[in-house]
Amino acid sequence: MMEKLSYILLLILQLFTVFAYSYSPNPRSGHLSAFINNKLYFISGSTTLDRAVISNDFFYIDCSMNFNSSINSIPYTSLSNLNGIPSIDVAGSSIVGPYNDIILTFGGIGLNNSYGYQLIYTFDTKSLTWNSLSTYGILPPIRKGVRPVFSYGRLYAFGGFNNINGTPYNSLDMLDIGFNWSNITLSNAPSGRDGYVSALLSNGNILYLGGYISGQTAGLDIVYLYDTNNNLWQNMSTAGTTPESRGYFTSVLNLKKNRLIIYGGESTQGYNHPASPTLAVLDLSSNPFTWISQNVSGDFIPPPLLLHTANVVHNYMILAYGMY
Ligand SMILES: *[C@@H]1O[C@H](CO)[C@@H](O)[C@H](O)[C@H]1NC(C)=O
Ligand SMILES: *[C@@H]1O[C@H](CO)[C@@H](O)[C@H](O)[C@H]1NC(C)=O
Ligand SMILES: *[C@@H]1O[C@H](CO)[C@@H](O)[C@H](O)[C@H]1NC(C)=O
Ligand SMILES: *[C@@H]1O[C@H](CO)[C@@H](O)[C@H](O)[C@H]1NC(C)=O
Ligand SMILES: *[C@@H]1O[C@H](CO)[C@@H](O)[C@H](O)[C@H]1NC(C)=O
Ligand SMILES: *[C@@H]1O[C@H](CO)[C@@H](O)[C@H](O)[C@H]1NC(C)=O
Repeated sequence: MMEKLSYILLLILQLFTVFAYSYSPNPRSGHLSAFINNKLYFISGSTTLDRAVISNDFFYIDCSMNFNSSINSIPYTSLSNLNGIPSIDVAGSSIVGPYNDIILTFGGIGLNNSYGYQLIYTFDTKSLTWNSLSTYGILPPIRKGVRPVFSYGRLYAFGGFNNINGTPYNSLDMLDIGFNWSNITLSNAPSGRDGYVSALLSNGNILYLGGYISGQTAGLDIVYLYDTNNNLWQNMSTAGTTPESRGYFTSVLNLKKNRLIIYGGESTQGYNHPASPTLAVLDLSSNPFTWISQNVSGDFIPPPLLLHTANVVHNYMILAYGMY
């Protein structure tokens, strides 16, 4: 386990292994992805298993092609010649802006295991420019393993881990439209964690699940919900058969936003144990939320991945890169 860096994998409905063509990015993990206007962007990440090399690659895949055909080549376009591309590993990202066409990166580990760079970078997909964003107020510390969520002009960044001073965070930091940070301190907040997944639900709640708490994976039998409308934390015990606990996995919402599909992750740090089952589904339309079994079939089943990305593109979940 965990000896390989993966290429792009497509999953769900039809399953293909996909190999690169012309411009061919290196395998990587701890990168970021964002799907905007039919382009699936990939940013940075580490191209070595020891995480010593952090790339400043930036490229996209044109997803206007029909995935309902066996894909022999991926239409990659490199944007690595642009100025100001962040070089970050295990960072977080969100799609932001009034037109949902700006990629925002949050934190992450820089070169030489340092945090000596900006907290936030943005890429405007219209003007094709990278900027580092100056923010004000109660500046949150830079950290890794945060999954920020953008809702109604506000960015919510919960938890994360600073692996230089070994500090986990459980504060929820909120960046408003004037780039002013505030620190939301509330009772019932989940304990500090990194490598969790987050999702903005249609009722305005942000769901948080799993991850590492002080090096131990958190059980998937408790879902935390931050209510962005009423500014409060709640938790819910899930029903059904709970999948194994895990960190550094991914989640996507289905198109109806009533199911959360999680993929991969490791269940114990250091022992490199892939969490089982690799793919699991949480039904969000039931009360309490219920884990339902999901059998995966197809010609090609991807391996259990870690530090990969997952994006919904048309009616597919695209898993990209990662380690296994
Ligand atoms: C793929 O698309 C073709 C035409 O666009 C359609 O006839 C066929 O049923 C599709 N196959 C699958 C498996 O969806
Ligand atoms: C990283 O460390 C190497 C070797 O010590 C050094 O040459 C390089 O300048 C450092 N890079 C940064 C960005 O600190
Ligand atoms: C936010 O509030 C929490 C709880 O009071 C505190 O531990 C943390 O240091 C604060 N964060 C910042 C960046 O001030
Ligand atoms: C920034 O946010 C804090 C906390 O919400 C607020 O007290 C302060 O007035 C804000 N500052 C500006 C310049 O908006
Ligand atoms: C869940 O919320 C209740 C209050 O509603 C609180 O007493 C309990 O400690 C919370 N559980 C966890 C695991 O955070
Ligand atoms: C999954 O596969 C197992 C074994 O083939 C079968 O018993 C089970 O009913 C299937 N579950 C679903 C939800 O299709």
